[in-house]
Amino acid sequence: TTEACLHEIESRVRAIADYPRPGVVFRDLSPLLADPQGLALCIDALAEPWRHARLDAVCGIESRGFIFGAAIAHELGCGFVPLRKAGKLPPPTYGVDYELEYGIARLEIAKQALPVGARVLVVDDVLATGGTLEAARSLLEQVQADVVGGAVVVEIEPLAGRARWQGTSPLRALVRY
Ligand code: PRP
Ligand code: MG
Repeated sequence: TTEACLHEIESRVRAIADYPRPGVVFRDLSPLLADPQGLALCIDALAEPWRHARLDAVCGIESRGFIFGAAIAHELGCGFVPLRKAGKLPPPTYGVDYELEYGIARLEIAKQALPVGARVLVVDDVLATGGTLEAARSLLEQVQADVVGGAVVVEIEPLAGRARWQGTSPLRALVRY
């Protein structure tokens, strides 16, 4: 992925000051998704490092991780497995509770979604505090999947979420703030 491509991607991320709270800069990926060239560049850049990784599945995190994850899975010719918020999947499921700034959230996966040892890439839109990706990772450990990496469009570096990505597999972000 060239610098020019990354610039094209970054130029389609909209910054909204003081949303959802004063002092927070919200990174809106809607313009990137809405633009045919931006979307194509973004999916290609996210998928590119994994073309020869022999992935079995891309695991996308509800809800914004679904958008990018399914497109990457299609691009790589592998399956897509959703990691869903609480109560959305029929039983049997595994689940992991994780902390948000206010309260607790839960991610779930269908018990039969992946065979033991499946090689998976975890995809989300944004890495902020890292709590969501950490929960996804521990959920995939419960089902004994092999997490070969993580991919996000945007990383908010001052929140240091990357430090919570345990293990040796690479976590790649296209754009960092
Ligand atoms: C947002 C974003 C990431 C997560 C990142 O999702 O889409 O999934 O927060 O934050 P973290 O690194 O601090 O965990 P959100 O939970 O707001 O839900 P959504 O994707 O359904 O909009
Ligand atoms: Mg999300």
